[in-house]
Amino acid sequence: MSNPATPTNVQWHSRLGFILASAGSAVGLGALWKFPYWAGANGGAAFILPYIFFTLTSGLALVMAEIALGRHGRGSVVTAMRRTGGRLAGAAGAFSVLTSFVILSYYSVVGGWCLAYLGDALVGRAVSGNVETLREHFATLVSTGWLNVSWHLVFLTLTCAVVMLGVEKGIERLSKVLMPALFILMLVLTVAGLFLDGAWEGVRYLFDIHWSDITSQSVLNAMGYSFFSLSLGAGILVTYGTYLPERACIPTASLWIAVLSIVASLLAGLMTMPAVFAFGLAPNAGPGLVFLTVPLIFSKLPGGILLAILFYASLLVTAITSSVSLLEVVVAYLRNNCHLTRRASTVMCWAGLLVLGAVSALSFSAWSGLTIFGRGFFDLLDYISTNFLMPLGGLAVVLLMGWKAWPVMRSELLSARTFPKAVVGLMHFLIAFLAPLLVLCALLQAF
Ligand code: TRP
Repeated sequence: MSNPATPTNVQWHSRLGFILASAGSAVGLGALWKFPYWAGANGGAAFILPYIFFTLTSGLALVMAEIALGRHGRGSVVTAMRRTGGRLAGAAGAFSVLTSFVILSYYSVVGGWCLAYLGDALVGRAVSGNVETLREHFATLVSTGWLNVSWHLVFLTLTCAVVMLGVEKGIERLSKVLMPALFILMLVLTVAGLFLDGAWEGVRYLFDIHWSDITSQSVLNAMGYSFFSLSLGAGILVTYGTYLPERACIPTASLWIAVLSIVASLLAGLMTMPAVFAFGLAPNAGPGLVFLTVPLIFSKLPGGILLAILFYASLLVTAITSSVSLLEVVVAYLRNNCHLTRRASTVMCWAGLLVLGAVSALSFSAWSGLTIFGRGFFDLLDYISTNFLMPLGGLAVVLLMGWKAWPVMRSELLSARTFPKAVVGLMHFLIAFLAPLLVLCALLQAF
């Protein structure tokens, strides 16, 4: 380990462990909950195409830059940035910690919905072939303030418990088992969904390109989603990179993370959209979309209840592997820079997140009247973090690693194996030019 002075002396057990944990952070409610309803609201292919483009260019560049920064700088994201780029970079790192905190606060509310549905599935209530019943069920859950807050509390507490156990025991072990399980279940659901009458309408919606549907808003949203789904711009991969051994190859690992996250998103789209059309739902039905469609498919399957239990359990786990990654950023910061113990840091976060998340949870009911820029609190936090906080955090990292610290970045990229000159040149171009340019355009457009 390059820096014996830091308290982070834990490492991933294997390269696979790292990839799965990073992919576990990436694949979460973003793919399963957000992707279907965003793709639905932004014209299907008009959203998916730019999303894939961004993921394989600016997204990939950022993944590599963040991991390299973490492995080189060690410590928390703030420490890593400061060591690599000086004081100002350190301040940008602190900003990422804030981003993670904000995202986790509302992420936990959605995580709570997963718990609620798992609870329903366990008592045999989550599956129904009646669209109206399902719609009402979801509406009741989110609009009953105390219910929404309680589930958020449970989810948050679970997340804190995993983080308290530490990185190898908690996070790595969990990801290894349940990630593959989720992929298999999604495949089952997709295949089952495709057999529904009218299902192909949904597939066409996802993949037929109407160029006129590609608007600056759909492109901006695609970029935002690409960031969200890769867990970028919030110090996640920097923090995870900290625990990565020298012999692991960053470009290969990064490509894996990007590809797994695209596959998960597309699979989630394929799992939901056919059912949306088959059952006459609206593709732009909003945040409840996945909770409306999946029970419908289950209602058509033999053993639907059992599958539903399995599905919500895996959904919960991917949500937790993601929320854990968000919390780990903040906890790593508090440990490294404020010299708190893991336990104290986690408890402090728990309290803060409980309050902030509760405000989000209540924005669907008691405080729905409280809107800022025409958005409820939950929406607002999501909007601000996806369109401003994450791109800003990402921009700081690529500028640092592509320009000021390129020699470091280069040696990190080549630590495990050599690449042809042309490939290194391409990576340099991506990190130093293309990624900053794309992110900057998106930021300007968002402003
Ligand atoms: N990527 C995760 C998902 O798709 C969510 C997530 C985890 C995230 N860590 C993040 C989003 C950091 C933004 C930044 O569900």
